[in-house]
Amino acid sequence: MILSVCVGSSCHLKGSYDVIEAFKKLIAEHAEGKIELRACFCLGRCADGVSVKADDKYILGVNGANAEEKFMGEILPLLG
Ligand code: FES
Repeated sequence: MILSVCVGSSCHLKGSYDVIEAFKKLIAEHAEGKIELRACFCLGRCADGVSVKADDKYILGVNGANAEEKFMGEILPLLG
């Protein structure tokens, strides 16, 4: 899976960096080699940021505080 975290200006201000750091750790712990983490530019959902895309699925409203919950609840299950 390609996991893209928006680092566009709006998402950046809302904490993209914290989300990326949290996902790096979670991937290492739970999905090593199965998820490729990337930074991407504006996903067009700035009002709902930080915006994340797991392959084609949008996961919105992510931040440093809820990154683990979003990862475990919405992203990891997509691996099947
Ligand atoms: S800046 Fe992230 S969706 Fe636009």
